[in-house]
Amino acid sequence: MLLKDKVAVITGGAGINGLGYATARLMAVQGARVVVLDLAQADPAGAAARIGSQHLGLVADVTDKASCEAAIAEAVKQFGRIDILVNNAGITQPVKTLEITGTDYDRILDVSLRGTLYMSQAVLPTMRAQQGGSIICISSVSAQRGGGILGGPHYSAAKAGVLGLARAMAREFGPEGIRVNCITPGLIGTDIIKGKLTEEKKAEIAETIPLGRLGRAEDIGGACVFLGSDLSQYCTGITLDVNGGMLIH
Ligand SMILES: NC(=O)c1ccc[n+]([C@@H]2O[C@H](COP(=O)([O-])OP(=O)(O)OC[C@H]3O[C@@H](n4cnc5c(N)ncnc54)[C@H](O)[C@@H]3O)[C@@H](O)[C@H]2O)c1
Repeated sequence: MLLKDKVAVITGGAGINGLGYATARLMAVQGARVVVLDLAQADPAGAAARIGSQHLGLVADVTDKASCEAAIAEAVKQFGRIDILVNNAGITQPVKTLEITGTDYDRILDVSLRGTLYMSQAVLPTMRAQQGGSIICISSVSAQRGGGILGGPHYSAAKAGVLGLARAMAREFGPEGIRVNCITPGLIGTDIIKGKLTEEKKAEIAETIPLGRLGRAEDIGGACVFLGSDLSQYCTGITLDVNGGMLIH
């Protein structure tokens, strides 16, 4: 088992069709104890219980520093350590540049970018004391190609910000044995795209992808298992593209 005895925290991990839940499930299969964090309405405790009774689900809003700190304190109290953090929580909005309001900008950047900073700040003291850890940040192909398919320019900016933040943290914390890496998913069939693309449009997009299909949540979960495990112990500051070849660069 690749993650035996490791404790993994996954933000935005309660959505049953989401990347975070698939990641939590695959990490549990690999022997990790998982801590599923999400907003109250997403029922993180229920999601964790579905994975198994030894896992933990806690309410945490990643845009709220005190909420991040409280969740991590509880996770450490119950499990004693934190080896992996997956900064997965994110929201999108399909609008064009001239339509973005200040409120939209704050909302989108707060979850992906501020959330990645706050949660990383919450786990880093524990990882530092352990002299090791792996932080995985979910960015997007949208950051690399200037727009994915659904997210607006503020979403691309938030996800590009995540790449910069992760790389800077990788440089800062590498000497303490803490690795920080990003994953840039392509188009993955989760609730984030639900109702936003017709089956016809999805088939059209699939034709342009070298591997011939949209991604599945497990495709990202597998990449997270790799980056959380010791198989990737010499990787830090990397961006792992998981996009079926949608963007090759
Ligand atoms: N699905 C895709 O095609 C795709 C592509 C590239 C990147 N991503 C990124 O992957 C991540 C997961 O997306 P998904 O497709 O699974 O979407 P999703 O909507 O299924 O999951 C997002 C989760 O984040 C949670 N969340 C929202 N705001 C939060 C907050 N303030 N605090 C804590 N949790 C919060 C939601 O409750 C939800 O469970 C996101 O960061 C998204 O931007 C998705």
